Amino acid sequence: MTLLLSFMSYAIVLSAALARMGHRSHTTPSSGGPRQNPSRLLIVGATGGTGRQLVTQALERGYVVTALVRDPSRLQVDHPQLTVTQGDVLDEAAVEAAVRGQDAVLSALGHKRFFYPTRILSEGTRNILRAMDTHGVPRLVCQTSLGIGDSAGRMGLYYTFFVIPVILPFYFWDKTRQERMVAGSDVEWVIVRPAVLTNGGKRGRCRHGRHAGSFLLTVRISRADVADFMLNQLASDTYLRTAAGVCW
Ligand SMILES: NC(=O)c1ccc[n+]([C@@H]2O[C@H](COP(=O)([O-])OP(=O)(O)OC[C@H]3O[C@@H](n4cnc5c(N)ncnc54)[C@H](OP(=O)(O)O)[C@@H]3O)[C@@H](O)[C@H]2O)c1
Repeated sequence: MTLLLSFMSYAIVLSAALARMGHRSHTTPSSGGPRQNPSRLLIVGATGGTGRQLVTQALERGYVVTALVRDPSRLQVDHPQLTVTQGDVLDEAAVEAAVRGQDAVLSALGHKRFFYPTRILSEGTRNILRAMDTHGVPRLVCQTSLGIGDSAGRMGLYYTFFVIPVILPFYFWDKTRQERMVAGSDVEWVIVRPAVLTNGGKRGRCRHGRHAGSFLLTVRISRADVADFMLNQLASDTYLRTAAGVCW
């Protein structure tokens, strides 16, 4: 009983710390009239579940896509409007070369090194932001997760009290740092915080915004719908400089 109470206190303290550390969603008025749709996109994390959806759906929408990947054989998409660039997001020069000439960047960066502290997400994102600044690339749409900043607790009880504090504390610290970097940057950013990801199909509709998610139940959304929502943010200012939760 004491152990359970101690553990619950730890989970609550961790959630509170992530909430305090994370940036708060805020709504910034849109910057002027209707924006021009970008046409050249860089997709980071393109060989991952969401990344592949981003690549396929972006090509379907007619974008000219560059995918930054560590291993091109893992992408297996062939399209005349797709350029695959090999590189690691932690390699500043590789990121700079990939960002040059783009109109926008979408990041679906992630990894599975959960059990020790890493800074892959935050350092990789720092490189992206630096390159965007250097080359005047205006817009970043960055995938993070529900449970960060003012969405703490919104992945449901199981994630709040078990998965995040036991399996993912280091990962969430890094994701929180990643969000802070994005929110502190001068680019036009949109953070997209999905619920638990599935490989299901695209429904084309989801709940989104500050109040997406549930404090009680585990909430989900498919990678296909996350990609769809992320691509919609390229030409919309609804969530400009805001973190939007997304779930079914
Ligand atoms: N799983 C969930 O339920 C869940 C819920 C909410 C949010 N999220 C977050 O959503 C994001 C996307 O998740 P996902 O499962 O769709 O993606 P994923 O399959 O984990 O893919 C991550 C991508 O990041 C790339 N990557 C990792 N380290 C890299 C590096 N150093 N340089 C370049 N690329 C690198 C991977 O490349 P390689 O193929 O070379 O490894 C891969 O393309 C992640 O941040 C994840 O934490 C996940």
